[in-house]
Amino acid sequence: PPHYTEDLESILIPHGIIMDRIERLAKLIVDDSDGPLVVCCVLKGGHQFFADLVNCIKKLNTGLGHSVPLHLDFIKVKSYTNDQSTGEVRVSLSETELKDIKGKNLLIVEDIIDTGRTMVKLLSKLREFDPKSVRVASLLLKKTPLSNGYIPDYVGFAVPDSFVVGYALDYNEYFRDLDHICVISDHGKKAYAA
Ligand code: PRP
Ligand code: MN
Ligand code: MG
Repeated sequence: PPHYTEDLESILIPHGIIMDRIERLAKLIVDDSDGPLVVCCVLKGGHQFFADLVNCIKKLNTGLGHSVPLHLDFIKVKSYTNDQSTGEVRVSLSETELKDIKGKNLLIVEDIIDTGRTMVKLLSKLREFDPKSVRVASLLLKKTPLSNGYIPDYVGFAVPDSFVVGYALDYNEYFRDLDHICVISDHGKKAYAA
């Protein structure tokens, strides 16, 4: 049987639905964009959404509408162990590369806004480098009482207050290699506990 079967409660968003939504988001982003865009992937969880979103924008760029030249950038931010935010958001990025965002239009690409701590911290860090504009696209926005109120500019789906994995979202680094977005089971939480 496929791995992870026992470790998942349910499929929340099947891969095909994710892909359809990303096509729509790409269209919105292109329509809103004026000139080149620095698309910045928040590793690791954001990598799959970033890859598929960039692909969709590339396809739109070959069409008849206006096209948006892209710069691709990557930063790494981490705060989770098990299903809990440690509250300590570690941003690892190269200052020299960050200086390049000065005066540029920035699109940050993230997998999920949960408490919102990661994004608030990241935004304040990026603003120090004086970009012209900053927008955030998050595939998921969790409805949780722990939210600090941060709402991204573009959202793929609102998700309930359970721990979701797959499509590059992890639980202690597991489940990133899953096409669908799923809810982890208690069995899975125990099996892969840190
Ligand atoms: C996860 C997720 C977001 C953040 C959301 O990253 O990918 O970046 O947490 O949580 P928050 O809104 O409560 O801050 P994680 O720290 O697990 O690192 P990863 O992307 O490498 O998995
Ligand atoms: Mn992350
Ligand atoms: Mg994680």
